[in-house]
Amino acid sequence: MVLNYIVFIIFSTSLVLTNGNIGKCDLAIAPSTWLTTNATGILEYSTAGHPTNGNNYCIRQTETTNFLHELQVAYHIDLGNETYSKTLMKSVVRSISLDSQNGCVNNDTKVVYCFPLCLNVTLQNQVIESALKSNQPAFVAQDIQKTTKLNWAITVMQVDYNDPNTHINASVFLNPSAWCSVYVGIRPKLGFDYLYEIQLGKILD
Ligand SMILES: *[C@@H]1O[C@H](CO)[C@@H](O)[C@H](O)[C@H]1NC(C)=O
Ligand SMILES: *[C@@H]1O[C@H](CO)[C@@H](O)[C@H](O)[C@H]1NC(C)=O
Ligand SMILES: *[C@@H]1O[C@H](CO)[C@@H](O)[C@H](O)[C@H]1NC(C)=O
Ligand SMILES: *[C@@H]1O[C@H](CO)[C@@H](O)[C@H](O)[C@H]1NC(C)=O
Ligand SMILES: *[C@@H]1O[C@H](CO)[C@@H](O)[C@H](O)[C@H]1NC(C)=O
Repeated sequence: MVLNYIVFIIFSTSLVLTNGNIGKCDLAIAPSTWLTTNATGILEYSTAGHPTNGNNYCIRQTETTNFLHELQVAYHIDLGNETYSKTLMKSVVRSISLDSQNGCVNNDTKVVYCFPLCLNVTLQNQVIESALKSNQPAFVAQDIQKTTKLNWAITVMQVDYNDPNTHINASVFLNPSAWCSVYVGIRPKLGFDYLYEIQLGKILD
């Protein structure tokens, strides 16, 4: 079996400049534990766990003239009294043929691509199990909340793997107690492949 998409991940430890606003989230407000995602090529998204109309978890979607859906997400992360440095992840999709690349703990053969930034492997596995159940972001977001029972902000983005302009730039904390994201591509027995960027963050109240 070959993949018709692949996700390239580029890491950078360069300082993530957080300024400006995303929805009602003011990225200048202390503590400076804001994580943001700026993405193009998102077909659909859904959230669970927290409303997105507060000041600590916000989403803004912009329709641009070339029909790209640009999505921005902000999380004001609750790190408690710990300090963590931010890691920057940048990814693009490209159409080349390769064998399955599953870097995650879940070895279901329907997982044809998987890249975790989720150090809690129990949680990582739960997220992937939810992703395997449905190609509907709304179902997956609710299912993650139900199975993890975490009081975290949950964002499920369905990524267009056919669009060469698809980009996801995200800042993350490699902290198992406050962040988990999984980039997962699934080839169901029936129907089309689907690719999700799933993010879970413990946010300030
Ligand atoms: C996303 O865009 C905002 C400005 O709207 C910026 O402050 C932030 O650093 C960007 N995030 C990433 C991960 O590039
Ligand atoms: C992601 O970052 C790259 C620069 O590294 C930039 O060219 C691109 O426009 C950014 N994408 C988004 C969706 O912000
Ligand atoms: C951080 O908080 C925890 C629990 O609230 C406490 O046990 C720990 O000593 C604190 N650490 C620091 C460096 O303040
Ligand atoms: C998947 O992993 C489990 C436990 O790690 C193992 O028992 C099982 O054989 C693996 N299945 C496949 C298809 O590799
Ligand atoms: C890891 O995730 C599981 C499932 O959500 C949770 O029960 C456990 O407490 C988490 N472990 C840590 C260290 O956060």
